[in-house]
Amino acid sequence: MNVLGIFGFGMNPAACLLRDGELVAFCEEERFSRVKTSPDQFPGRAVQFCLSHAELDLGDVDRIAFAWDTHKYPFLMLKKLAGQYARHRSRAQSGGGRSLNHSSTLSSALLNVLKYTPGRLEREIQLGLRERGIKGAMPKIEFVPHHLCHAYSTFFASPFDEALILTLDGSGEDICTQIAVGRAGKVEIMESTPIPHSLGWYYAAFTAYFGFLPYRHEGKLMGLAGLGHARADGNPWVERLEPVLTLDDSGYRVDPTFTRFGVHSHAERFTDKLVKLITSHDPKLTPVSALEDSQNAEGPPPRYLDPAYVDLAWGVQARLEHVVRELAKRAAHKHGGHRNLCIAGGVGLNCKLNGALLSTDEFDGVFVQPASNDAGSALGAAMAVAEAAGDKIQRPLEHVNYGPEFGNAELRDFFQHCKVPAYESSDITTSVAEELARGKLVGWFQGRAEFGPRALGSRSILASPYLENVSDRLNLAVKGREPWRPFCPSILAEDAPDYFEGCTKAPFMTTAFQVKEEKRKDLAAATHVDGSARPQTVSESATPLFHQLLCEFRDRTGLPALINTSFNFAGEPIVSSPRDALRVFYSTGLDVLAIGDFILRKPPLD
Ligand SMILES: [Fe+2]
Repeated sequence: MNVLGIFGFGMNPAACLLRDGELVAFCEEERFSRVKTSPDQFPGRAVQFCLSHAELDLGDVDRIAFAWDTHKYPFLMLKKLAGQYARHRSRAQSGGGRSLNHSSTLSSALLNVLKYTPGRLEREIQLGLRERGIKGAMPKIEFVPHHLCHAYSTFFASPFDEALILTLDGSGEDICTQIAVGRAGKVEIMESTPIPHSLGWYYAAFTAYFGFLPYRHEGKLMGLAGLGHARADGNPWVERLEPVLTLDDSGYRVDPTFTRFGVHSHAERFTDKLVKLITSHDPKLTPVSALEDSQNAEGPPPRYLDPAYVDLAWGVQARLEHVVRELAKRAAHKHGGHRNLCIAGGVGLNCKLNGALLSTDEFDGVFVQPASNDAGSALGAAMAVAEAAGDKIQRPLEHVNYGPEFGNAELRDFFQHCKVPAYESSDITTSVAEELARGKLVGWFQGRAEFGPRALGSRSILASPYLENVSDRLNLAVKGREPWRPFCPSILAEDAPDYFEGCTKAPFMTTAFQVKEEKRKDLAAATHVDGSARPQTVSESATPLFHQLLCEFRDRTGLPALINTSFNFAGEPIVSSPRDALRVFYSTGLDVLAIGDFILRKPPLD
């Protein structure tokens, strides 16, 4: 059967198509809308792409699977929040803060209730499809619980026959964390942690505290935590933050009076009580304003680079790692002694946490869904509905190249139309490997686009790790990212164990590994201060063209790795079309664009 999986009206709307259990197409709406994360949109363009790629119209689709259970969500969430509001009201009233207080939590919940009323959401989906001109009889729409979608998305993409499944996010319906077991082609829910005990909200609160954008820039806080390794011994913040995130006999708790309920004088994501807790230990550690982060290019370094803030960041991360590690360990023992772990949900994008889970003796294997954010829930919804209808889900997921692609004939016409000089190469990997070995910065646009937040060799910017000051040059030329955040390496899978501790297969850049001491000078630009890196291992079977390029580069330099960063402007979605690629190429300092069999070079400046 044909199942169209959809997540929409939140962050990272996306659509995918499963045909008889086989993934045919998958893409995020942001790649078409060109608005990062496409917040609150319906993924109409992504649906259009999936259907046209499969040459179907809506009438050929047997089921639409939507990754949110509207029948359960509104009333449960409102009931829970109203109860929590009542319990915390008296404490909040004593604060006397400014305009934002806990009632904003209730009002946003009420808006969500209205948005997700069952009948209304069904109508919004139908309207979203018709507004895009998508024709055909409307299939039945099934609403699948959000965390079950995350669980399906990771277990059925993993190579494991049985595994413990941990789904961690901000919230899905009224659930923040879920523990499930996957075995015999089924997923069984074991335990759920309801709102407000959200690990996503915990991390978002501190993301905002450091002046970063919550639900967008959690990776910056994680990167900042990596700078704190040298001061790890005796870092007191892991204990100091225990009142905020506490392990207990039933699992863990996030005290909502630090995040949601109370007076908010600084930001919506954390209360004054959190400020009081932190500044009682160190008065200078007041919240950093978002303005301070955005002005750091020209102004003085932002305060969060002060060692005291870095220590705090390290503590925030270490506390998360400690709690999730214990949670996973206890659940593995309680539910059958599982040695494999599957992870999904937005917190699964935290590659340091994933690395910490993999490095424990508790698990032999850890698989992280490459689209752990809510885009991946569209895939899980489709899998759940297809599996319930009797389809056998094709697994494991070997690559993420299920987006749009462009043939050479189409590219030739496009370049002629744009009057752009593009030269056809008879051997694109050899040509590009030579450019990279000469120190050129290359835009690499090949085959079907990736889904998920990482560029994995289809829409990538590539550079030689041996290039002097390669991070600075990439930042100056195109990326504009903070100088303290390292870039990621892509490495031939067969050579990865020589460069990274305990790394055999990591095709999706979801896990941090320690770079071997003797290899750190080769991968200096890709190695964080704490000695970790987030590699992509590249295999011939999964991504043959990218593998060939790495082989050619190794033949010329002796190094089986390239710096690989996403092909986009900072703050924009990864390029999707040739026009997007051309726009980035000609408005940045990239030297070469390799697109299909075509190469574009900029003439030297006199
Ligand atoms: Fe989610």
